[in-house]
Amino acid sequence: MILVTGGLGYIGSHVVVKLLELDFHVIILDNLSNSNGTVLSMIEIIAGKKPIFIHADICNLRDLDFVFSQYDIDAVFHFAGHKSVSESMQDPFKYYSNNVGGSLTLINSMKKAGVKKIIFSSSATVYSESAKLPFDESSELKPTNPYGQSKLIIENILNDLYKSDNRWKIGILRYFNPIGAHKSGLIGDSPKTKAYNLMPAIIDVFNKKQNELLVYGSNYLTKDGSAVRDYIHIDDLANGHIECLNYLVGNHFITVNLGTGKQNTVLDLIRAFENVAGIKIPIITKEPRDGDIGISYANIDLAHKELKWEAKHNVKQMCIDTLNFIKKNTN
Ligand code: NAD
Ligand code: WQD
Repeated sequence: MILVTGGLGYIGSHVVVKLLELDFHVIILDNLSNSNGTVLSMIEIIAGKKPIFIHADICNLRDLDFVFSQYDIDAVFHFAGHKSVSESMQDPFKYYSNNVGGSLTLINSMKKAGVKKIIFSSSATVYSESAKLPFDESSELKPTNPYGQSKLIIENILNDLYKSDNRWKIGILRYFNPIGAHKSGLIGDSPKTKAYNLMPAIIDVFNKKQNELLVYGSNYLTKDGSAVRDYIHIDDLANGHIECLNYLVGNHFITVNLGTGKQNTVLDLIRAFENVAGIKIPIITKEPRDGDIGISYANIDLAHKELKWEAKHNVKQMCIDTLNFIKKNTN
């Protein structure tokens, strides 16, 4: 069985669907802090199978110990965590406590239960702003914000864990900027909290929850002055997780970027969305947000070589699938 922490969230739910489609038995553990119970029904409709759902918190050792004692778990996909760069600047403790504290509790419980396979959601935010572009896995690590710090601390814990006991099998996946939705339109990114990321913010304008999109940064050294990111379709990202699970059958440890290697500016993404949606997204240009960096995109050679994986969808498809999801959910 596979335990998926945070499995009702944006990325976790897409990976759960893939796992169920591959006939794995899946247990989702989620505290619903940034997701909704209805995602469970959507997963079931898409995959035609039902995962076990446990409403619990990764910070609660007793609950975790209970889960590991009740089920025969082979591997853990660990998605549970908070994920906003800007919120982490305002409330760093929330990030260290939930992300680092929760991961330590999870690992503690895994150790007690003798479960030694984990695939962890890290982030491109761990790279130094001044590292050479594109970021590769050996680039300098120096997060500019507490969210990124929390991810780097967990990476370090997992590295040390493996050094101390090489029976562990560990995949550390550094995601770039996942967007898009499942092709069914039934699951996608629908944060409960304020929309901090770019695509959810575009959607808020599309849905008329906001009148304008605030574009943070207009003087970066990029083709139009707005920031560059490496947007990756959620379906490609989810496939990367399955390839990592396959990789860990014959291997023990990998830290790898999951991106496309392609660069798109904030204005490129807005334009792509406008073209697909047939509307104009009004923008207001602002100063960069605290903790933001100008340019981030991935070197994807290692993923290609070791995981035999690469992203297939382009930004237009990412926008089409996002729009399909929004329309289905607005109706
Ligand atoms: P998400 O917020 O949609 O999903 C996270 C899920 O974890 C939510 O369902 C939430 O309810 C749950 N959760 C949070 N804290 C928990 C706790 N203490 N106990 C149990 N459940 C808890 O986020 P996502 O976009 O799916 O991201 C998943 C993971 O990937 C996170 O760790 C995030 O930091 C990481 N990540 C995300 C991105 C991105 O752009 N979405 C990029 C890089 C890394
Ligand atoms: C992208 C660009 C913003 C909102 C972080 C993490 C990464 C991943 C995604 C999570 C930036 C600009 C945004 C808005 C804007 N995370 N922007 N107006 O900051 O690259 O990455 O979140 O777990 O790991 O580092 O993503 O989507 O927030 O921002 O102009 O309303 O869009 O300033 O330049 P980011 P993002």
